[in-house]
Amino acid sequence: MKTEVLKATEVDLAAAWIKKGQLVAFPTETVYGLGASIFNPEAINRVFYAKGRPQDNPLIAHIADLASVQKIAQDVPNAFFVLAEHFFPGPLTLIVKRHPNVPDIASAGLDTVAIRQPRSSIALGLIRAVGEPLVAPSANLSGRPSSTTAQHVLHDLDGKIAAVIDAGPCPIGIESTVLDLVSFERPTILRPGFVTKQQIEAVLKEEVLIYTQGKMASPGMKYRHYTPDAPVKVFFHQRDLEEYLAGSPKCKRMLLSKGPMNGRSDHYLLLAQNLYATLRQADEERYDEVLLLCDEEVQQDAGLMNRITRMVGSHESCCN
Ligand code: TXA
Ligand code: MG
Repeated sequence: MKTEVLKATEVDLAAAWIKKGQLVAFPTETVYGLGASIFNPEAINRVFYAKGRPQDNPLIAHIADLASVQKIAQDVPNAFFVLAEHFFPGPLTLIVKRHPNVPDIASAGLDTVAIRQPRSSIALGLIRAVGEPLVAPSANLSGRPSSTTAQHVLHDLDGKIAAVIDAGPCPIGIESTVLDLVSFERPTILRPGFVTKQQIEAVLKEEVLIYTQGKMASPGMKYRHYTPDAPVKVFFHQRDLEEYLAGSPKCKRMLLSKGPMNGRSDHYLLLAQNLYATLRQADEERYDEVLLLCDEEVQQDAGLMNRITRMVGSHESCCN
């Protein structure tokens, strides 16, 4: 199958493909998603297959309006609507109780469903044109960085999906914040992102927890994500980084930090918007190692730090 590259104006064509059960990748404000109708289990099966995604990792339902919530969820708590009023459309995903209409495969058999209304007008137009919520995981091969451009989508999925709508780079660059409203005593963040714990607490007027350990809350958590081929090392202080550089042999090295690094040609900016693109570049250009300097400003960004920590995993070194 040849993967077509569609323009932002060709949303109706994309919708026709999805209605026929074909897969189309589309832009959102966070990352590109790989869409299928939530009520088409065969198409959803193809989403898992195309990505090489384990079937026990549930998908997010993308909606265009709040009227569709009742078709995919039940016993929806008031907090959902309070948060939706404030943050929808936008990079916040809310987990509530699943409606029996939603096929098991979409939710990996869980009795909950994750719902988000993306902000991108192309995504919203596509969902409206299909007329049903779309499940859409990030449009990358499982274990690769999420795609933030149509070129990344093609790199991972060319020939495996019908089309990608190309609308340039995604403005936020990391995936939505995932907040579970029903599985814990308090609303609990399963995946930090652009919408912060403090912003959610200010709207809900109650304490919000961040999931750390214990029960495996989000099946996605057990999979190692976002890993470049080259070894990654994280430094929290400039002096530790300098020491490392002074004491290690020359190699093709990529250095990421928020601030400038006087005159180094191997230096890239450490920002959520270009994190995944830069990591993909590290693979393509076969860097020997990737060094990240996470200063205090970076450490305060829970979404960015979460992606970095998961990328490094437990077997690489974290140099304090
Ligand atoms: O920004 C985003 O959220 C992007 C764009 C395309 O919308 N989508 C995305 O989907 O990141 P995905 O499938 O790559 O990540 C969804 C995450 C996974 O970690 C999954 O385990 C979790 O959400 N998740 C989905 N449904 C869940 C549920 N019912 N309970 C717990 N976790 C859930
Ligand atoms: Mg993903």
